[in-house]
Amino acid sequence: MLGIKNLYKSFGGIIAINNITLEIEKSSITALIGPNGAGKTTLFNIINGSIKPDSGTVELNEIDITGYEPHHLFNLGILRTFQVAHEFSSLTVKDNLMMVPPNQTGESILQTWFSPKKIKLEEQNIARKAYQVMDFLQLKHLANEYAGNLSGGQKKLLELGRTMMVDPKIVLLDEVGAGVNRTLLNTIGDAILRLNKELNYTFCMIEHDIELISRLCDPVIVMAEGSILMKDKISKVKKNDKVVEVYLGKNQ
Ligand SMILES: Nc1ncnc2c1ncn2[C@@H]1O[C@H](COP(=O)(O)OP(=O)(O)OP(=O)(O)O)[C@@H](O)[C@H]1O
Ligand SMILES: [Mg+2]
Repeated sequence: MLGIKNLYKSFGGIIAINNITLEIEKSSITALIGPNGAGKTTLFNIINGSIKPDSGTVELNEIDITGYEPHHLFNLGILRTFQVAHEFSSLTVKDNLMMVPPNQTGESILQTWFSPKKIKLEEQNIARKAYQVMDFLQLKHLANEYAGNLSGGQKKLLELGRTMMVDPKIVLLDEVGAGVNRTLLNTIGDAILRLNKELNYTFCMIEHDIELISRLCDPVIVMAEGSILMKDKISKVKKNDKVVEVYLGKNQ
């Protein structure tokens, strides 16, 4: 579904992405792992258009999308969540969700004069969708809570919820499990699995929690120093000498 070819990106002297070629398969939950500074977030930033690669290409269903702007990629169904949650803290959970859908008729001032009924209807539909999303993610009891008052884990759930307000083709999750307690992590894991199985979402997730990865992800891609070390099942990844070395090497 997502094809990356000979991708390269450096920041000054630092090579963040060093000639990466890889494929993310449709309907997979692919994990992207690797030590700090491996280039995982940079890869996400390139895929979703927030930074441009120096060379190489990104294709979505065999269409070259390299260098497209983030809003364009969003409209094509490439959605992401951030390593640090990006909620609007002074808006409620419900309003955070309702803000998401692109091309809302209500955004055009002229339309508010000429077709207020249509806008009202659209708003009702969006509100209904927001409640469905909150129901799915067990956030309904927090609908009218300010997003700024949520716990770290609940903010991550809200991030996931924002991707559900549109119909994504692929969702990139950047450390959705970081700093989240075990109970909420299970809720997030369940939601990801259901979205994958029931709604056929494709996920690529940067994750450190090996338990969560083992439960959800196949395949697992291992990155180190801007390159791909391997791509395989988690059971194979755990046993690979190079992978073990990369992780232990960083801790010594
Ligand atoms: N905007 C930037 N300017 C300069 N250097 C950057 C920038 N973004 C990333 N880098 C560098 O590129 C390398 C890869 O960083 P990146 O954030 O992609 O790693 P990561 O695998 O996501 O790490 P972490 O697990 O810590 O989140 C690092 O050496 C980082 O310092
Ligand atoms: Mg990162």
